[in-house]
Amino acid sequence: MPEFIPVIKKEQIETGVAEMARRINADYEGKSVVLVGVLKGALIFLADLMRQLTIPVQVDFLRAASYGSGDTSCGAVLLKKDIEIDLADRNVLIVEDIVDTGLTLARMVDHIRSKNCRSVRVCALIDKRERRKSAVTVDYACHVVEEGFLIGYGLDYAEDYRQLPEIYHLKL
Ligand code: IMP
Ligand code: MG
Repeated sequence: MPEFIPVIKKEQIETGVAEMARRINADYEGKSVVLVGVLKGALIFLADLMRQLTIPVQVDFLRAASYGSGDTSCGAVLLKKDIEIDLADRNVLIVEDIVDTGLTLARMVDHIRSKNCRSVRVCALIDKRERRKSAVTVDYACHVVEEGFLIGYGLDYAEDYRQLPEIYHLKL
C-alpha cells in the first residue's frame, strides 16, 4: 500500500502563497505581468497566487513533459503547448509547481527568453534541490524541500492525486 506522509499543511501553503504574492506585488509595483503557468501541475498554485496579485496580470500556459508516467525523469524535455499571448516587451513570470532537476525549467526559460520579453523571472511553489542538475534561478519559492516525491495541490503521480488540498510525500 502506498504511504502518504504529510509535508506541507493547508495553512502553510496559504501562508507561503500570500507571502509570495506580497513580494511579487511589491517587486512589480507600477508594472504589468504575464503569468506563464506550466501545465498541468501549476494549475492550483497559479489560481491561488493570481487572486492575491494586485498588479495587472494576464495569464497564459505552456505545457512541458519531462517525465513519463512515473516518478523518474527521462531527461528529455518536450514542449507540448506554446503560449498564445505576444510576449515581446512584456514582464513574464513563469509559474511552476516544483523544480526538481531544473531541466524542465531551464528549457522553459530559454524558450520564453527567445520571445524578446522585457524581463523573465520564475516562481515555484516548491524548490526541491536534492537532484538539481541545472544552474537555473528560482526567483521566488514558497517552500524549499530537500527530498521525496511530492503529490497534492496540483502535483501528481501518474496523473493521480492532483486534487488533494495538502502536500504529501508519496512512498510507494
Ligand atoms: P525537473 O525537470 O526535474 O525539474 O522536473 C520538473 C517537473 O517534474 C515539475 O514541473 C513536475 O511536473 C515534475 N516533478 C518533479 N518533482 C516532482 C514531485 O516530487 N512530485 C510531482 N511532480 C514532480
Ligand atoms: Mg508534472
